[in-house]
Order: sequence, then C-alpha cells, then structure tokens
Amino acid sequence: MIKFIPIGSACAQSGFRLAHISDPHLSHLYDVPWRQLLNKRILGYLSWRFSRRHIQCPAILDALIKDLDEAGAHHLAISGDLTHIGTPGEYKQVAAWLGTLGQSTDISVIPGNHDSYVRSDAAQTSDHWSAYMDSDVEASPFPEGTATFPLLRQRGPVAIIGLSTAVPTAPFFASGRLGQTQTEALAELLDRTGKQELFRVVVLHHGPLAHSNKFRKRLIDSAQFRSVIKAHGAELILHGHGHYPVNDILETANAPIPVIGAASASALSDSKTKRAGYNIYEVNATANGWKIQMQSRRYDRHTGLFKEREKLEFHLPASRPRKTP
Ligand SMILES: [Fe+2]
Ligand SMILES: [Fe+2]
Repeated sequence: MIKFIPIGSACAQSGFRLAHISDPHLSHLYDVPWRQLLNKRILGYLSWRFSRRHIQCPAILDALIKDLDEAGAHHLAISGDLTHIGTPGEYKQVAAWLGTLGQSTDISVIPGNHDSYVRSDAAQTSDHWSAYMDSDVEASPFPEGTATFPLLRQRGPVAIIGLSTAVPTAPFFASGRLGQTQTEALAELLDRTGKQELFRVVVLHHGPLAHSNKFRKRLIDSAQFRSVIKAHGAELILHGHGHYPVNDILETANAPIPVIGAASASALSDSKTKRAGYNIYEVNATANGWKIQMQSRRYDRHTGLFKEREKLEFHLPASRPRKTP
C-alpha cells in the first residue's frame, strides 16, 4: 500500500502533492477466452502477443510505485489505459492492483481508449473500478453512486476534475471524444470550483491540443474542450495516451495553462522519450495565485530505479482575487 500523506498535513511550508501516472497497461491476456476476441479485440490481442507484452513491464510499474511511496503524495491520479483491450478479466486484474495501492479516496482513475476497446457491459468491466471513478458525494453533479464523468473530487485546496474520452472506435483508430453533455458539465464544474478558489486540475486521457496527437489518435472534439477551458479557466491540465512526456501550454486570456503529458508508467525502452516515467506536482497558494512545482521522474534501466529527470515551476493567477485576511 502507498503511504499517502494525510490531507490535513498540507500547510504553507509544504503544499499539496499530486502524483500523476498514465498508461500502465498492467493487465495480461494469457487466459483470455477466445470468444472475447471475435471483434476488434483480436487486433489488440495480436499487438499484445507479439509486441506490447515485451514493452509494458510489471517490474517497472512496481519500481514506480515504490518510488512514489518514498517521494510522498497526498493523492494519485491515473489517466487511463490500464488495460490492453478492456476485457472483463483485465478489469478484474486492474481492480486487484488498485486495491494493493490504497483506498479509492486517495486514487482517482479515468479510462483510456484501451479500456473502452469495444462496447462492453459496465457490470462486467468499468463497475469494477467505480469506487476509484466516483465523484465526492457532496460535490457530484450526478446522483449518488454513479460513476458518470466528469469526476469531481476535492482534496485540500485542489479540485480534481476527471473526464472520459474513452469511446470504442473502428479498427486501427485510437481517437477519443468528450461529447457535448460532458463538455457542458465541465464548464459548470470549472465555474463552481473557480468560485470556491480551488486549484483546478483537469485530467483526461487524450492530449487536448491541436498538435497533441496523430489524426487516428486525436481527441475529436478537442477544439470544444479548449474553448471551454479558455472561457471558464483551469490551473493545470494532465493527460497521457502518447506514451512520452509532453510539456505544453494552452494560452488563454487570463493565463497560460500548463498542459502536461506523462509517459507510460511501465514502458521498457532505451529511448529517452519512450521509457517509463511519472510526475509529481506540489501546489502552493501564493499572495496572487498559485505556484506549481513539477518534478518529472524517469526509469533508469541500469539501476532499475526511478530518478529525477526534470524540474519545472509555473506561476498562475488565482481564478478570482484572493481575500485578504
Ligand atoms: Fe496507452
Ligand atoms: Fe491511449
């Protein structure tokens, strides 16, 4: 179990620490029933059989979790692609893994395109993770107990707003879509949490900028997403999907918003861009807004350990002027 820092211990000297991992692809398909492969899944299965199972390495993911435990965080966000082809058996494997990490209140999960490979019965699949995808009851815009996105959780000074871009696609496509209902709900949640002067972190699987993805992997309604962010604001946008680290900025009239993509959490690779990594953010309130200190940690295959690769610092204005004490 990860020893998460109790929320109440966030203070002026040490801010709120949010860890972000993505694309662990931690399940295996050794025992998948063949009848579950009689659709697009056969392509994903073959990809796993001949390639992905040699790249996505459970031992690297174990090393990441150990490193994260030692680094310390108040909360963990996982931005999708926990499975390969989203079978019921994979959902159960992932649910068991999540249970080894910690309480669902300490871990927020959103799905990726691989978790929604084909249309599936929620009772057999996503319901296994619902505790990790539920909104806070008092904060949810939806009826209690539903895992409908956007997810909204408040932890300390931070509002975690999780979106689902995971929709089944045609073979050879890995695109995503938010849809109008979710985009409208996002606008409402950004307004509500902005008025509460919370630090708004938006988490989604697909990169949301125009240049984030190749055509077949793109977020189809990314322009609508960017319009909502520009109109309603946010302080940080996190994503995965590309399996390489991305440090981008979304320019808005109020402030430039960091858009940060995480590498795959379990990738074995000699490539500097493709090897496993994750990020930790420390968020501190300042007199006029927020200071974000980001630490990027990457896997070193020579030592089998994660180590610091990069540090970045951002300063953003508050969503509304701070009250003077
Ligand atoms: Fe992925
Ligand atoms: Fe993906």
